[in-house]
Amino acid sequence: MQIDYYYSLAEKNLSEYRFYHSKMVAKAAKELALKYGADSAKAELAGILHDITKEMPINNQLQLLEDNGIMLDSVTKSSEKILHAVSGAAYAEFELRINDRDVIDAIRFHTTAKADMTLLQKIVFVADFISEDRSYPDIEIMRQEAEKSLEQGMKYALSFVIKSLVSQGRCIHPDAIDAYNEIIMKGI
Ligand SMILES: [Fe+2]
Ligand SMILES: [Fe+2]
Repeated sequence: MQIDYYYSLAEKNLSEYRFYHSKMVAKAAKELALKYGADSAKAELAGILHDITKEMPINNQLQLLEDNGIMLDSVTKSSEKILHAVSGAAYAEFELRINDRDVIDAIRFHTTAKADMTLLQKIVFVADFISEDRSYPDIEIMRQEAEKSLEQGMKYALSFVIKSLVSQGRCIHPDAIDAYNEIIMKGI
């Protein structure tokens, strides 16, 4: 399938606001792929699809997962924000029949990250934080960190997310802790 097909699909499945966000993440992912030596076509594909189920009703997301035998851990079950990453990956794999595991896992882990991410997976995770449509107080610092290295970008993003979840009294997915610990233990 041509990339244009996935852009049309994202446009059909998403609100104008989120379609624009997805286009900007695809653009940022493509640019990071060129900078850091990953496959830019795969980065663009994962970027345009990363939030593809974010506006799907929760029950439909849960049904999609159940139909495909995907079990959810308790933290994911309690968090819509993580759920859309898991259902988005299932949608890409089972509905769109995308057979590239790295692209599917880049969607799967774009919210939590995890330890041992591939270059493509790190790129999509970071692209979601630095895309042109984003505006939050630390965005310029975040972009500078991502410019230094993907790991620096991930460290900043994970610290930001973990701190904000703690301040809101919310759960932190173990994959996010694993990703954070891996970076700290590497001395980044
Ligand atoms: Fe997302
Ligand atoms: Fe996103």
